[in-house]
Amino acid sequence: MQIRFADSQPDGAFALALPMRKGADFPTALPGLDATGVALARAAARAAQFEGEAGALVELVALAGDDARRVLLFGVGDKDDGADWERAGGALAAKLLVSGEIRLVVDLTGSVPRAEDAARLALGALLRSWRHDVYRTRLPEKSKPTLEEIVVVGAGDGAAAAWAPQEAVAEGVMLTRSLVAEPANIIYPESFVERCRHLADLGVEIEVLDAEAMEKLGMGALLGVSLGSARPPRLLALRWDGTGGRQKSPVALVGKGVTFDTGGISIKPAQGMEDMKWDMGGAGAVAGAMKTLALRKADAHVVGVCGLVENMPDGKAQRPGDVVTSMSGQTIEVINTDAEGRLVLCDALTWVQRKYEPGVIVDLATLTGAMIISLGNEHGGLFSNDDTLADQLLAAGRAAGDPLWRFPLSDAYNKLIDSPIADMKNVGPRGAGSITAAQFLQRFVEDGVKWAHLDIAGMVWADKPGATWEKGATGYGVRLLDRFIADNFEG
Ligand code: BES
Ligand code: ZN
Ligand code: ZN
Repeated sequence: MQIRFADSQPDGAFALALPMRKGADFPTALPGLDATGVALARAAARAAQFEGEAGALVELVALAGDDARRVLLFGVGDKDDGADWERAGGALAAKLLVSGEIRLVVDLTGSVPRAEDAARLALGALLRSWRHDVYRTRLPEKSKPTLEEIVVVGAGDGAAAAWAPQEAVAEGVMLTRSLVAEPANIIYPESFVERCRHLADLGVEIEVLDAEAMEKLGMGALLGVSLGSARPPRLLALRWDGTGGRQKSPVALVGKGVTFDTGGISIKPAQGMEDMKWDMGGAGAVAGAMKTLALRKADAHVVGVCGLVENMPDGKAQRPGDVVTSMSGQTIEVINTDAEGRLVLCDALTWVQRKYEPGVIVDLATLTGAMIISLGNEHGGLFSNDDTLADQLLAAGRAAGDPLWRFPLSDAYNKLIDSPIADMKNVGPRGAGSITAAQFLQRFVEDGVKWAHLDIAGMVWADKPGATWEKGATGYGVRLLDRFIADNFEG
């Protein structure tokens, strides 16, 4: 779908959307409507008990010359809040996406929105209209998207400038969503890398390690996970330096990219196993965030690392009880082959610290089912060894609409993964499963490095539509990371 900003309405009886503030008197004039149209709109609003809440819509049909057009009144709340405008854009897109309308004109003339609000409206609409229809070859005509363009009129001179960074956000989120939505026969370690190759055209430096390179580096933990799979593993590093070498030490983003998680020999039950195609949502978020940063030419130095493996059971697969040696030199007793994400991340963490000496690391992973038990689908879990970093991430999450909730770390939890035979085991007792997973990762964070771990198991996939997403892949994490970088490492 295209977004365009214009000074006046295009000719034609296209669908027309008009903003309404909560609690405001109904306007006496509305752009694109004559006096009868305004009277009709007022009556429709009253009949629907419409009060201008963000996301609320009223639909009517009004005469437009010899023709008639669909008119939507949309609520934007009363807080002048970008999030409300985004919600409104999402509601408009959801309403019209398969409606038969091809073009929507959103006329803001007279409503004095900030350019930023208009851009947020466009972002909400674009994000809400994203769907993954690639494999639906028999969709009935009436279920196919028709909406091709949204023309935003009267948003003021700054609208196009305000839109550029939001468009970059949308592009990043859409990359993440498509990586996450694709099944595991399409997205596996090598094809994940290929889907990120286009980032090179945006100035992102790409480095790819194959199994042989990882073996030389001693990544026994990551490689152990991939033993049972016919798909060879990859470590993908995406580096964006928008500072021209000014920021020597980059911020590191590290993502769990298990392109399918059967559990390995500790195999998962059949029911719901198909969900494990999105066990690469952390890596997907890292790739999408790197795309956004590059598209908007962020004034920051960031390296995104994706640990890409498939976790399968096989004659060659690792067994429960096996001991592997990680790149850090620490040994791990693999009690449960289904706790594979931490085995992948620990070597990715060591690699990025040895190669780039980042001062700050944020890792993202669909790491534990326990996180979904704790927080459901409303917050990602946050763990950190640094209060300032934790607060920065909490604030970025709130502002970006990707909310986080902080959990504790402590020596007492850490002890729970001591092993009698190796330096640690890869699972603790049943209780505090998300915390012991985080403690495991912390053992690979070097002294002086500020680190945060985001367990996003409940956030990357939605069973029902939200304000700015269709059900399916949400793109969670991209906006959070983009905002975190923008607010703390730029300018
Ligand atoms: N990928 C899963 C975690 C997960 C489960 C994410 C459900 C999203 C939805 C992870 O690799 C895993 O299997 N974790 C185990 C850990 C356990 C063996 C300690 C879990 O959560 O059950
Ligand atoms: Zn697992
Ligand atoms: Zn997993």
